[in-house]
Amino acid sequence: MNVAVIGAGYVGLVQAAGLTHLGHTVRLGESSRERVDELNARKIPIYEPGLVELIERAFDNNLLTIHESNVDAVTGAEVVFLTLPTPPGADGYADLRIVESVVDELAVNLDDDQIIVTKSTVPVGTALSIRERLRAGGCRAGVVSNPEFLAEGSAVEDFMRADRIVIGAFEPEHADVVASLYGGLDGTIVKTDPASAELVKYAANAYLATRLTFANAISNISEEVGADALQVLEAVGLDRRIGGRFLRPGPGYGGSCFPKDTSALLGITRNVGYDFPLLEAVIRTDALQRERIVARAIGLLGDPTGRRVAVWGIAFKAHTDDVRESPAVRIAEGLEAAGAEVVMTDPEASTSEFKCFDDPVLASEGADMVLVATEWPEFIHVDMTRVAEVMRGRVVYDVRNVLDADMVRGAGLDYVALGRPTF
Ligand code: UGA
Repeated sequence: MNVAVIGAGYVGLVQAAGLTHLGHTVRLGESSRERVDELNARKIPIYEPGLVELIERAFDNNLLTIHESNVDAVTGAEVVFLTLPTPPGADGYADLRIVESVVDELAVNLDDDQIIVTKSTVPVGTALSIRERLRAGGCRAGVVSNPEFLAEGSAVEDFMRADRIVIGAFEPEHADVVASLYGGLDGTIVKTDPASAELVKYAANAYLATRLTFANAISNISEEVGADALQVLEAVGLDRRIGGRFLRPGPGYGGSCFPKDTSALLGITRNVGYDFPLLEAVIRTDALQRERIVARAIGLLGDPTGRRVAVWGIAFKAHTDDVRESPAVRIAEGLEAAGAEVVMTDPEASTSEFKCFDDPVLASEGADMVLVATEWPEFIHVDMTRVAEVMRGRVVYDVRNVLDADMVRGAGLDYVALGRPTF
C-alpha cells in the first residue's frame, strides 16, 4: 500500500522503516530541512538497533522517500500516520498544537477516501477532535487511533514482534484498512473505538510505571530489613498471575514516555473529575527514589564536598542514547548540588551538563566513588582491577545491579548494590 508518515522523529522513523519492511511504499514528511537532508544522506538522527539497516534497505528498494512538505508526503497515500511531537503542556496535559496545525494543513488537501491515523500518544478524545477539525474544514477523510507500544532500544524488534496492534476506528472498514497494513505481523489485532484505543496506551504505560515503582518500594524495604530485593522480586514474579518482567529495581523511570504519560493521565482524570491518588503516589514515589539514592551515595561518601563521583551511564536506560528525564543525570545533578564533583561515562549517550568520557576506566580516575546508574551490559566487562588502580576511593554503588559482585570485590573494591544486603 502507499502510506504517508508525518514526522521523522523516533516513532515516525521506526514506523516508516517497519512499514517498508512489510512491503509498503512510504512517503515520510519532515518539516526540518536539515533532517530531510540528513535522512537523504542516510544519516539516521537517533540510535536504535536495526533501524539504519531497515532504512538503507528501504532506500535501496525505492520504498522510502522523504518530503519537506506534508502536502507532498500525503499525495497518493491511502493511509496517513501522524507521528508528531506531543510534549507535556503547562498543566501536565499533552500539548497538541503541532498535531492540530498539521491536521488543519491536511484538511484542505486530503481526499475523503484517505485515512488519518494518530500514532503518537495523544489525550483521549483526540481522534474525535481531529475528525471534527477535518469536518470543519470540509474534509471527510477517515480518522483512526493506532497507538505505538515501541520501547526505545528495542523499537524495531517491538514493531516486528508486537504483542498487540490496537486499532480504534469510527468506521469498521477503516479499521480493516489499517489492520491490513500489518498483515505480515503476528501480534493480536484489537479493533475498538478511538477513545478506548487512546486510553489503552496511557493505561499500559501507567500500569508499567506503577509496577516498577512498586518494585522499587519493595527494594527499599529490602534494604531496611536486610532482605535481598532481587530474590524477593524474582520469587514474586514467578507467580504466573504476576510475571517477572518490569520488576527490576533501579533509580526509577525516565525517558520521554513514562514521566510524560503518567502526568498526562493524571491531567485527563482531573479533567473528568476523577480522583486518582494511586497514580499521584506513583509519580511522587518515583521522584523520591532518586532522592533516596543520592542520599545513600552521600552517606557512603561521607562529606561530599570536593569528592569525585564517576557516574557510569548517562542514557535513561541501556541500548539508547536518549537522555530525556534520565535518572542517571538526575542523580548526577543531586550529587553535584551536594558539593561533589561529577563526571559521567556512557557507551552511546552524552550530556553537556557534565564532563563525559567514553571509557569507564578513564572516567573513574581519581574518583572516590563509582555509581552505576544505567544497566549497559558493557559495564560488566570493564576490568575492575584497572578501575581499582585508578580510583582514589573504594566504593562502587550499583543502583542497577548490573556488575558482578565477586568481580568488584575481587578487585579490592567495596560493592554496594541497590536493594541487596551489604556484606
Ligand atoms: C515505554 C513503554 O515500555 C513502551 O511500550 C511505550 O511504547 C513507550 O514507553 C512509549 O510510550 O512510547 P520506553 O520509555 O522506551 O518505553 O522504556 P521502557 O523500557 O519501558 O523503560 C521505561 C523506564 O522504566 C526506564 O527508565 C527503565 O530503566 C525503567 N525500568 C523498566 C525499570 O526501572 N525497571 C524495570 O523493570 C523496567
